[in-house]
Amino acid sequence: MSHFSPELKAQIESFLTRYETRRSSILPILHAIQDDKDWISDEDITALDQEFQLNAIDVREVLTFYTMYRQQPPKPYRFEICKSISCWLMGANDTLKAAKEEVEKAKKEGSPLPFEIHAVECLGQCGYAPSSLINKDRHNNVTPQKALELLREYAAKELPAAARKCAADLKSR
Ligand code: FES
Repeated sequence: MSHFSPELKAQIESFLTRYETRRSSILPILHAIQDDKDWISDEDITALDQEFQLNAIDVREVLTFYTMYRQQPPKPYRFEICKSISCWLMGANDTLKAAKEEVEKAKKEGSPLPFEIHAVECLGQCGYAPSSLINKDRHNNVTPQKALELLREYAAKELPAAARKCAADLKSR
């Protein structure tokens, strides 16, 4: 029986046939695993090696080279706030500070919010500064007040499918 779900296994097999070498399929395969499980674990790397003959050292090399891959279970939402020049001029630092403080405050009060806050480089939406991303959703003109509203809005939603699956996987370990 495969370590991966039937759908993910089929995706991995399709990537392996699409590329000239097994090694060149590692990048999209890691994306597919992360989309499915929210992060990439040591068990996933071992399974890629054993089930698909993708050398674990090669996989680890790719995994550690690119920052977009997560090697630890993430929070359900990644809130990225741009800190580059246009956003900085429009007060991104205040937005960042407000979001971080709110997450920290909730943690201290024992009701943690499902967010990681990150300051990132230009998101290509400089005309709408300060700009941000929550997972794949774009949000523009994010003042400190709007950041707090977004934290509340997303915290009240059902968690994304990958985050729910990740939590269930971790519980069953
Ligand atoms: S400078 Fe912030 S989106 Fe470009």
